Amino acid sequence: MEKKLKKLSKRVNNFLNIYLSNINSSALIAPMKYGLFPGGKKIRSKIIFDIGKMFEVQNKKLIFLAASVESIHAYSLIHDDLPCMDDDKLRRGKPSTHIKFGESTAILAGNSLLTTAFEILSDKKFNVDDNTKSKLINFLSRCSGQTGIAGGQYLDLSYEKKKVSLKKILNMELKKTGKLFEFCCVAPLIIKKNNKNINSFSNLGKDIGLLFQIVDDLIDFKGNTKLVGKKTKKDNKKGKATIISLLGYENSVKYANKLKDKIYIRLRKYSHKADELRKTINFIMERNK
Ligand code: IPE
Ligand code: IPE
Ligand code: MG
Ligand code: MG
Ligand code: MG
Repeated sequence: MEKKLKKLSKRVNNFLNIYLSNINSSALIAPMKYGLFPGGKKIRSKIIFDIGKMFEVQNKKLIFLAASVESIHAYSLIHDDLPCMDDDKLRRGKPSTHIKFGESTAILAGNSLLTTAFEILSDKKFNVDDNTKSKLINFLSRCSGQTGIAGGQYLDLSYEKKKVSLKKILNMELKKTGKLFEFCCVAPLIIKKNNKNINSFSNLGKDIGLLFQIVDDLIDFKGNTKLVGKKTKKDNKKGKATIISLLGYENSVKYANKLKDKIYIRLRKYSHKADELRKTINFIMERNK
């Protein structure tokens, strides 16, 4: 899996690098590239390609989806690390963007990465019809804004040091993380105009995203800063409302395992066609960073 992710990472980074080099340059390109490269695990891109393959979507289309999602993801991390949010100085094994470039530049570079995602999806070279394009743009907007990442991040911050119900924690994690995974699972189907499966892949994406965030919370609890590339054991210190803070570590592991079983049941009818996606889900569960 590590090898496959590395290969995919090269491909997506290369696309983004060429993309950013071809647009009129500004001083923000440097902090934008700093936030993007060499970047993280590329799990979201992997899911796009796994599902794209299941439904025979061309790679040259999938790469546009992956680049736009990684651009939004990088933006969300730059802002997540700001002093007014999680106040983290280390990201992906190096100083956070605001530490390197200053806060105002980090905010503007983050904003620009958010809009870059929509530039990519609306690009002439993205060879899908206009109706599909506007559906993708509409979907990604809803996964990123107040009903998605931004809304979830708001809840995450407002729940700090509060006793919050499981239902509310799940809703917060679904928004801040699940929604972008939902886009990854649904976007290849939108390209294929495969409307009958959109609902079930939307639910699949939310479950995978929720699982991803729970494992991220578990890694924060148990992980080692050097290996993970970001400061660990911080959620507890900041009083973050996570499933661990509510149920404890062991029960959260159980919860994650149950969620994984549920995801596997959703994939049953795709038998061997979903093998690669299953491998990615196992990697999400077993990763230590
Ligand atoms: C971290 O995401 C933020 C969460 C939504 C949990 P990743 O763990 O995918 O970060 P990178 O891209 O690998 O650095
Ligand atoms: C961040 O969740 C989710 C985002 C949408 C950025 P965290 O705050 O737990 O992510 P890390 O642990 O800092 O990567
Ligand atoms: Mg956060
Ligand atoms: Mg954080
Ligand atoms: Mg975390």
